Amino acid sequence: MIVVEDLHKSFKRPGGRTFRLPFGKNRRSATAEADRVVAVNSVSFTADDGRITGLLGPNGAGKSTTLRMLATLIRPDRGSARVDGHEVTRDVLAVRQHLGFMPHNAGIYPRLSARENISYYARLCGLDRQHAAQRVGQLIEQLDMGGFADRRATGFSQGQKTKVALARALAHRPQTIMLDEPTNGLDVMATRGLREIIRQLAADGHCIVFSSHIMQEVAALCDHIAIISNGSIAMQDSLAGILQRTGENDLEDAFVKATRNLTTETQR
Ligand SMILES: Nc1ncnc2c1ncn2[C@@H]1O[C@H](COP(=O)(O)OP(=O)(O)OP(=O)(O)O)[C@@H](O)[C@H]1O
Ligand SMILES: [Mg+2]
Repeated sequence: MIVVEDLHKSFKRPGGRTFRLPFGKNRRSATAEADRVVAVNSVSFTADDGRITGLLGPNGAGKSTTLRMLATLIRPDRGSARVDGHEVTRDVLAVRQHLGFMPHNAGIYPRLSARENISYYARLCGLDRQHAAQRVGQLIEQLDMGGFADRRATGFSQGQKTKVALARALAHRPQTIMLDEPTNGLDVMATRGLREIIRQLAADGHCIVFSSHIMQEVAALCDHIAIISNGSIAMQDSLAGILQRTGENDLEDAFVKATRNLTTETQR
């Protein structure tokens, strides 16, 4: 389960103003607010076990930044987030044990084979050699990776990379699983296969959070939807709840209505 309360994160605007200190180092200007990009601005939501929660938002909305904070890869400026009861800023190791994260750009090692990539990660997560080998074999079968499991990852297709990244996220059997745009670049059959896996994980009691900007995908898969726009949650509810609250018949129209009052990207 994930509980997020009032998370904030901003970044130094690339190319922002700096001034040169006497000893030669560049430091950010003290008038810094304007030099920062607000990526996440007071995000709160809950993702329950046994359910699929969708973080739905357009490009630049703050989805990846939110997920990266939950995955302990970057620190929030303020606010709190707990993964299975463990606070992301204090209990980093416990969060990592409970969480499987599939980042947007899979970041797999090109010189290792698919099997070695997954196995390396499983070992990092604390599985001994024998258990890692067993688990990796199981995932290769489950995700139908047999045809390329022992090839070096360099040159893998998008779908093959996605499968390796997903297997890596599942290697240590985490209770909570976060997937950042998992169907990006997948063909129809691969997308259907991934949806089945996600549904099965939720049916087995796992907490699943995935981000997407694709309305139909979120509508088809999610039990709970958090609409994020310009770094803030505009609305969260079940699909039926969102349609009812906005008085619309489809998620796209509901999305437009729910986000209408938030500031535009260019105003940030
Ligand atoms: N390291 C960074 N440095 C500067 N700005 C950043 C950084 N990371 C994110 N941002 C900015 O924060 C905002 C939110 O970015 P984020 O990647 O979270 O969006 P997203 O919803 O995942 O978008 P997409 O659908 O395109 O993946 C964007 O304006 C982005 O440019
Ligand atoms: Mg993203």
